Amino acid sequence: MDSIIVTGNGPLKGQIPIAGAKNACLTLMPATLLSEEPLTLTNAPRLSDIKTMTTLLQSLGAEVSQLQDGQVIAMSSHDLDNHTAHYDIVRKMRASNLVLGPMLARLGQAIVSLPGGCAIGARPMDLHITALEALGAEIELKDGYLHAKAKGGGLKGAVHELRFASVGATENFVMAATLAKGTSVLKNAAREPEIVDLVRCLQKMGAQIDGEGTDTITIQGVDRLHGATHPVVTDRIELGTYMIAPAIAGGEVECLGGKLELVQAFAEKLDAAGISVEETDKGLKVARRNGRVRAVDVKTEVFPGFPTDLQAQMMALMCTAEGTATLDETIFENRFMHAPELSRMGAEIEVHGGQAKVHGVERLKGAPVMATDLRASVSLILAGLAAEGETRVSRVYHLDRGYENVVSKLRSVGAKIERVKEE
Ligand code: UD1
Repeated sequence: MDSIIVTGNGPLKGQIPIAGAKNACLTLMPATLLSEEPLTLTNAPRLSDIKTMTTLLQSLGAEVSQLQDGQVIAMSSHDLDNHTAHYDIVRKMRASNLVLGPMLARLGQAIVSLPGGCAIGARPMDLHITALEALGAEIELKDGYLHAKAKGGGLKGAVHELRFASVGATENFVMAATLAKGTSVLKNAAREPEIVDLVRCLQKMGAQIDGEGTDTITIQGVDRLHGATHPVVTDRIELGTYMIAPAIAGGEVECLGGKLELVQAFAEKLDAAGISVEETDKGLKVARRNGRVRAVDVKTEVFPGFPTDLQAQMMALMCTAEGTATLDETIFENRFMHAPELSRMGAEIEVHGGQAKVHGVERLKGAPVMATDLRASVSLILAGLAAEGETRVSRVYHLDRGYENVVSKLRSVGAKIERVKEE
């Protein structure tokens, strides 16, 4: 198991290229199951989660190959010979559940293992199930697997309102409805940029969809979808993560490919904290020009609100802010596991249920810490950039799920960081 060692090294300067979005790629890949013709994704990120989705799609009979060092994913689902997504693969990654909607739509049946809980919360599947049932699926839970069948041989368009604007349930419903008979309307749909990206790709494949990016998405079912080539949207969470780097360590970093519209709510909080964020023709330039950052309160919300996937990184920044910041986590019930690790570095944090109060200290101190989940692990690296001495982050396999080349990206802007093999 590898560790990452970061040593606080003063201000950062330079440019960091931002990759294609993991969460967009993880929903675009299962879209291949909807068509007999090839689907090619460009600007794909090189991550272990993408490998897991590759293995899952291959297990269903899809052909998936990584070209150009993994930045292009060429897929073909001409012959699907299996409709069971096995526990061995699904347990590694919750996004595996995104094969359910497409398989039901194309094959009329699907058996998908329940993902189980994960470190940040229970993450049930009820919203996915009721959304697909609205389209005429019959779904039963047997031996830890969801057994889904389209009643009467095919899905039928329907109007459905989500109890909560779940990202995954929106994606499963939209993909399933593209091949359903008639019109479907999803109300209280999630509005995340990754959903807009999925819809853009489905439209290229011939799907008739309107309203993406709003809370009502209308889908007119078609008989078949064809092949397409689609570039994956920029990763707004990787973008936000690297925007924190100069905010916490000082200096100026230009995040190449970044766009303000992807991180508006987050950028507004950085601005309130005293960080300058400027849109350039290449991306977003972020700088901390003078003094300490100011404490700002944050509440995580569905898009366009402040993303839960940037809460841990924001907490790291607030650890050295002037004043006390209150962070409310409303999306996941157990997403403060980075708090005790940050406290090992001298941070002063009190957690009560879904709320954390961070009393800023002048300086963090390097310490051995442990990554507990994907975003928590990167928050510890960010904290290490601002700490005195050495921070050793262990269990960095979490990081490989969502960040490509984190060491070389941060090194290129002057950070002292290395990856080492642990005994
Ligand atoms: C996606 C993102 C994840 C992000 C999350 C929220 C991917 C691959 N992952 O996850 O990085 O943190 O959105 O922005 O895109 N819920 C239910 N029942 C359900 C489904 C969800 O109660 O059937 C709850 C979850 O437990 C959670 C909340 O809804 O508390 C949000 O989940 P959801 O929006 O579905 O997130 P994911 O799609 O799993």
